[in-house]
Amino acid sequence: MTVSASGDAGSPAPHRFPVVVVGAGPAGLTVGNILRAAGVDCLVLETGSRAAVERRPRAGVVEEWAVRGLERRGLARVLLGRAQRHTECEFRFGGERHRFRYTELTGHHHFVYPQQFLVTDLVREYADVRGGEIRFGVRDVRLHGLDTDRPSVSYLCPDSGGRRVVHAGFIAGCDGAHGVTRAALPPARTRVARFDYGVGWLALLAEAPPSCDCVVFGTHPRGFAGHMQRGPDVTRYYLQCPPGDDPENWPHERVWAELRERLGAAGAPPLNEGRLIEKRVLDMRNHVVEPMAYGRLFLAGDAAHLTAPIAAKGMNLALHDAFLLGDALVARLTEGDGRGLSGYSAACLARVWDYQEFSQWLSEVYHGPASADPYRAGTALARLRRLFDSPVAAAAFAEQYLGTTTGG
Ligand code: APR
Repeated sequence: MTVSASGDAGSPAPHRFPVVVVGAGPAGLTVGNILRAAGVDCLVLETGSRAAVERRPRAGVVEEWAVRGLERRGLARVLLGRAQRHTECEFRFGGERHRFRYTELTGHHHFVYPQQFLVTDLVREYADVRGGEIRFGVRDVRLHGLDTDRPSVSYLCPDSGGRRVVHAGFIAGCDGAHGVTRAALPPARTRVARFDYGVGWLALLAEAPPSCDCVVFGTHPRGFAGHMQRGPDVTRYYLQCPPGDDPENWPHERVWAELRERLGAAGAPPLNEGRLIEKRVLDMRNHVVEPMAYGRLFLAGDAAHLTAPIAAKGMNLALHDAFLLGDALVARLTEGDGRGLSGYSAACLARVWDYQEFSQWLSEVYHGPASADPYRAGTALARLRRLFDSPVAAAAFAEQYLGTTTGG
């Protein structure tokens, strides 16, 4: 990643777009769709191929306020027809099952819709319906002149191999946790807050029907285990493991034995075993970049903040940022109203920090029992029991679990 003050990267034919969006994940595609709906031209640059971004399994939980936000922008038609609606989850601890009926408490539910389906819908709507321009397979994306009124983005064209320069009124940095736009923020004006939970999760996708009719969280002295439906024949499981563990340490037999042990509870249906089609170790780490903007560059989604999947918040934060950024860019570009852009970072960060705090709270519940520290194990179980003993604690938890506390 280089940031230079000029756009003189040797392109044969510079082009200009009011907005260049870097990255075609949920954040970038939502921004692009909002802009196109308002008649604002934009260009989306993506390093992957269309097939790759439409197939990559990632998150799966979309909170109800986020679904309504997509719906208001004409982006939820397929989702509303296909997503599962969840009304409760189950905690297993002390060898027992405890149902937590959050819809009964709040009237709201969770939608489960694999991220790659949402990305597929958003690419189709942006490129095929709203006529947005998107370039897949670009290489070596660089930002130039961010501290000027005429920033630009350059990239290597996948066909010619030549460098192309695109001038931009604004740049939306939506290129995820490993992208290049975050590195363009000047270090002296940027604060990165980091938190490392010190645990790993083995993320598994099993070719097997779900083993329970809802999401299951197992807290156990051997470590956390999770069960999440992803469709009739595919189920996601998580197993807490040491950070940086090698997935090869987890052969089929070991995985299923640990899942049976950690998710075991009186009266629980047996687990449906199946071939493991994905096996990755995720180190549980978070970070937050503040502010999420510099000059005409605005970051959204994982590019600005990473949230370990402990509370399934990542895709929701990406959508929240994208709604605010898309709307703010439209206001600025169509009405000259810059208030949304100037308040963008602070408005995003309020929800980001709220979700960070909830993830940390939940992490202690999940990981305390296996911490080898009897004090942490005791307080983790107290937190869990309180959810089932105190209606006030249950209501507060439900709000945070569903993301309704922050007024979404
Ligand atoms: N140039 C262009 N595109 C890039 C670059 C780059 N230098 N680097 C990465 N990308 C692309 C990736 O290939 C990906 O398609 O940017 C996109 C970023 O998408 P996501 O990582 O899905 O990020 P975001 O849209 O913020 O959505 C956050 O992703 O990590 C999950 O669980 C998280 O659900 C959350 C969601």
